[in-house]
Amino acid sequence: MTGEPIPLAGVIGAPVSHSRSPALHGYWLRKYRLKGYYIPIELGYDTFEQGLRSLPLLGFHGVNITIPFKEKVLTLADVITDRAALIGAANTITFLKDGRIQADNTDGFGFIANIRQQAPDWDATVGPAMVLGAGGAARAIVSALLAEGAPSVRISNRTRNRADMLKEHFGGRVSVIEWSNAASEMQHAATLVNATSLGMTGQPELTLNLDRLRPSTLVAEIVYSPLNTGLLQKAAERGCRTVDGLGMLLHQAVPGFENWFRVRPEVDIGLRQVVLNA
Ligand code: ATR
Repeated sequence: MTGEPIPLAGVIGAPVSHSRSPALHGYWLRKYRLKGYYIPIELGYDTFEQGLRSLPLLGFHGVNITIPFKEKVLTLADVITDRAALIGAANTITFLKDGRIQADNTDGFGFIANIRQQAPDWDATVGPAMVLGAGGAARAIVSALLAEGAPSVRISNRTRNRADMLKEHFGGRVSVIEWSNAASEMQHAATLVNATSLGMTGQPELTLNLDRLRPSTLVAEIVYSPLNTGLLQKAAERGCRTVDGLGMLLHQAVPGFENWFRVRPEVDIGLRQVVLNA
């Protein structure tokens, strides 16, 4: 006699051993007492497509996608959500009942949901946002800030042409600030986001002078290791509200978990602890 198959999900990357997603989803599976497993899957460039396509047969309802396959997976998807198309990358794959592969990008959603949880009265529409960085994370964040109604988004990146490319992609409300002028332009920001890897353990510190940062500015990080980055510490000393980067990682996982395991999970203190210790 066969019962209902146990739902499976996982994360595909190369390397994938560092991923905190198994700990994250494992916490929710236990919390909600669900039958299901979430596992890390390492695939190479040559095995990615075949590996991904074989997963529904094995009982997988979907997977997260991480480096280096977030762009490549769009070429295999049958359904691409608007936000994934706009960002040009996907992190959440759902195998639809009719056999199609759906690709979504929940990074921007996670970024906004995290701010809403940590600073509930934040309102993107009150003034310009400034984003440091122009990589994949910055792309998702710029897209989300625009969708939230930020009147303008000003991007500053060490390599200027990557910022110019984002401006070209997102258009009108986006402008570019020379990296060397980022400190002096900071005073105009209602929201300031570090979307670079600066400040992360093993990386150089973000050494921008914060003297012009106004106390009314909300300062958000994508870096979560360490949790309290140099930027967040200095911003807090200036009286700014700060939002750490861990919550973005936690919240981006919510839509995938709900798709695959049919429960909308909550981001709570227990989850933060488990993922911090992973
Ligand atoms: P992700 O997809 O995670 O955003 P990425 O595409 O490698 O990763 O982007 C990393 C970001 O951190 C980029 O904006 C990068 O700036 P460059 O475009 O000039 O590379 C930024 N970054 C990394 N190291 C930096 C450093 N030492 N100084 C300034 N910016 C740095």
